[in-house]
Amino acid sequence: MNQNELKAAVGQSAADYIEPLLTKEAVIGVGTGSTANYFIDALAKSRHRFDGAVASSQATADRLKKHGIPVYDLNDVNELLVYVDGADETNPNLELIKGGGGALTREKIVASVARQFVCIVDDTKLVDVLGKFPLPVEVIPMARSAVARKLVGLGGQPVYRQGFVTDNGNMIIDVHGLSITDPCAMEDTINGLTGVVTQGLFAKRPADVLLVGRESGVEELRPAGS
Ligand code: 5RP
Repeated sequence: MNQNELKAAVGQSAADYIEPLLTKEAVIGVGTGSTANYFIDALAKSRHRFDGAVASSQATADRLKKHGIPVYDLNDVNELLVYVDGADETNPNLELIKGGGGALTREKIVASVARQFVCIVDDTKLVDVLGKFPLPVEVIPMARSAVARKLVGLGGQPVYRQGFVTDNGNMIIDVHGLSITDPCAMEDTINGLTGVVTQGLFAKRPADVLLVGRESGVEELRPAGS
């Protein structure tokens, strides 16, 4: 199987995983990216079994609507049954780097109100230590250079994502060369830099369940030690 086939398999598995949890009142959170897109396409078959969805990006909202799935503003929803999204890297504690597609801030907000976070990846995304994938940081445009200098001070090599504007009208800096041995501490440190909107570490709110697409099939993992 190639990587896209693994992503498709894990997207289908996520739809199967949440199927028994669905109720007519349930609203679910939906992430962004190619793996999340496979999930959306698989979810479409169950669209009459739940109320609707909150999207983590405009692209996801458009895809959900194309399948006839109602899309809610998060401000009109009290709770999300589940949040399903991909990731760029995951460690054995199910701490993640996300934001390769630039939707990290909305992904973080939507994940924060979900009862359960189901992360879906192919097995190329598994690592022992986070940081090989450049860490995306969303910044207010006027703070780009100031934040970049601080990121150099943290040992990273910041690279401005040329020509990319987030759904929130901001910029992304991709930080290369970090070896993130304490993801919670790094998350706090970068979130504390003035001008940073948020960054792509999901350590304080890691995934609860990881579905991994492998050649041998889809494996369900929980955080190490749980
Ligand atoms: C978007 C994300 C995606 O989940 C992440 O980049 C993985 O993408 P893909 O499923 O296309 O490999 O965080 O901001």
